[in-house]
Amino acid sequence: MYDFKIEAADKPSLYAELTEAADALTAGEPDAIANMANVAALLWEALPDLNWAGFYRNVGGDPSTGSGQELVLGPFQGRPACIRIPFGKGVCGAAAATREPQCVADVHAFPGHIACDAASRSELVVPIVAEGGTLIGVLDLDSPLPGRFDAEDETGCVKLIQRIAARLGGMALVNVDG
Ligand code: SME
Repeated sequence: MYDFKIEAADKPSLYAELTEAADALTAGEPDAIANMANVAALLWEALPDLNWAGFYRNVGGDPSTGSGQELVLGPFQGRPACIRIPFGKGVCGAAAATREPQCVADVHAFPGHIACDAASRSELVVPIVAEGGTLIGVLDLDSPLPGRFDAEDETGCVKLIQRIAARLGGMALVNVDG
């Protein structure tokens, strides 16, 4: 059983504690899906004001042309969600296509936003890139509050994901052989 006491007073310490907890949760476990599931649960429990926390995985397509590239729903906490998201579509698709984090204060103002849950008002999406440059997928956090995520959330999540990225892509989620 895991029982992390996350009691930080400010966001940088909160994410520092969460990064240690995510590291401990995924250490020694080669199964990416299990690791995504536990990290989604950890973030869901520790971060206030979320209505969705989870992962979309890169399931391929042709990286040279971008043809057919899409994300597919991975482990998450929250309401059932959209299953497939083409690269470039919505906030998650933008993060996958650009490989840049997307911190969106008002999702209704984001072109092409995919409303899986009408309650979502703001969103933070962080790409997961493995060593060697393969895009593993994205971490997606949604909130019913407008402007829920700021630069400290973004930096905190980017560092957390960087620490454990190798453990989120340890199985053939994408065509790593070809
Ligand atoms: N709103 C997202 C889709 C994913 S769900 O919110 C879980 C987007 O536009 O990428």
